[in-house]
Amino acid sequence: MNLQLDPHSKTEKESVDHFRLDVLNGLQHTPKKLSSKYFYDKIGDHLFQKIMAMPDYYLTRCELDIFQNKTDELTNLLIPENESFDLIELGAGDAMKSTYLLEQLIRQGVDFTYMPIDISGNILSILHKKLSSQFPEMKITCLEGDYFEMLQKAASLSDRRKVVLFLGSNIGNMTPEEAEDFCLHLNTNLSSKDRVLVGFDLKKNPHTILSAYNDKEGITASFNLNLLTRINNELGGDFNLEQFQHYQTYDPITGACRSFLISLISQQVTIGNTRISFGENELIDMEISQKFSAEKIKELGEKSSFTIIGEIKDSKKWFVDTVWQVK
Ligand code: TRP
Repeated sequence: MNLQLDPHSKTEKESVDHFRLDVLNGLQHTPKKLSSKYFYDKIGDHLFQKIMAMPDYYLTRCELDIFQNKTDELTNLLIPENESFDLIELGAGDAMKSTYLLEQLIRQGVDFTYMPIDISGNILSILHKKLSSQFPEMKITCLEGDYFEMLQKAASLSDRRKVVLFLGSNIGNMTPEEAEDFCLHLNTNLSSKDRVLVGFDLKKNPHTILSAYNDKEGITASFNLNLLTRINNELGGDFNLEQFQHYQTYDPITGACRSFLISLISQQVTIGNTRISFGENELIDMEISQKFSAEKIKELGEKSSFTIIGEIKDSKKWFVDTVWQVK
């Protein structure tokens, strides 16, 4: 298989050291903060699958609606005139949505190479196996590592036009400032006429949004609390999960949907040799899921020097996939 390994790929010890450093820095910061990128261990992956299956978690189904039912429109926006190109996907995971696009491109007889980028080599091998049996003729080059390093790698492998997918409102897991930096960085790592497709979750009835992140069964709560379990298991922590509670907010003005954990009592937690004090009702900031207005999306694209090509919404008009081109 064509798996380009990241030369800087971390050993297990290095990734634990990195995890420990991030956790201790975040918990010694005011306000306390943990990064949601650490949610996804084996149990976290499983809990996120359960979140995606919840009736109230509309995001995955909305974007799937676009990829399943508006595939023609999608290919028209992504590539002019069936020209040959490289299709790159940032954080491809199981490529559940993009598989519909791959199928359509193959049907149209377009000459393309699919290049999924993911930080997890394990996920990439599983994906490679699945796609090679589903589409034996398709060219696939898996790129393991950091998004921007792998974009440069992709550029060095071929000089065909690049089309980059960044799906699932992943952009919403950055603060608006981080999202702006990210889009600018994306622009500078691409060449003239390359295109990107970015998925945005739109502002809508605030009840709909809050319900997607605040389920009564407590799956989202367990998903957040699982990070404390992970710290206990992997970093020698002694968090008592009974003494922390999930709290979700949505601010319809700014569009920020946020997950917190609240310390229910004044308590001390030890992680390895480090002691962390929590006041009663002190918060840990866990995750932002930013919701966007059409104006903000346009502003973001223009500020990061892209030309706006078009957009496709799901049938409920709750989610939008936007296509931008490098000038
Ligand atoms: N961040 C993703 C989203 O915006 C996944 C997610 C759903 C999530 N619920 C969560 C992340 C709760 C952290 C906490 O939909």
